[in-house]
Amino acid sequence: MTDQELLARADAIAAKAYAPYSTFHVGCAVLLRDGTVIEGVNVENGAYPLGICAEKNGIGTAITGGYGAGDFEAIAVNASPCGGCRQWLLELGFDRVIFRNRGEVVSLTPAELLPDSFELAD
Ligand code: THU
Repeated sequence: MTDQELLARADAIAAKAYAPYSTFHVGCAVLLRDGTVIEGVNVENGAYPLGICAEKNGIGTAITGGYGAGDFEAIAVNASPCGGCRQWLLELGFDRVIFRNRGEVVSLTPAELLPDSFELAD
């Protein structure tokens, strides 16, 4: 699975987002180290803060399927990941995060996306 293919999966699944409030449809495709791809979309709610991001949805589905920190190779998103999602990507040990930055496809590490990050232990 190439980064371009993973991003195409994220683009396609975004159509299934439930985003009636922002109308900002986000999709992600999570590549596990065993080659499995799991998708996620954002799911909003009329009580606005309760909505969840596509990344959290996709990662949560992977965790539910039995995967854990260290099993995550890459994630493609059809948007720049928000600050909170960057913290998730860092903790779960993704190698790379693929998205479009002003039209250009970029592949960055979670540490590049979230320098000087919070960690529970020193
Ligand atoms: N959103 C995501 O799904 N992922 C991100 O990393 C950025 C933001 C969603 C949340 C909300 O449903 C919509 O985009 C607008 O903020």
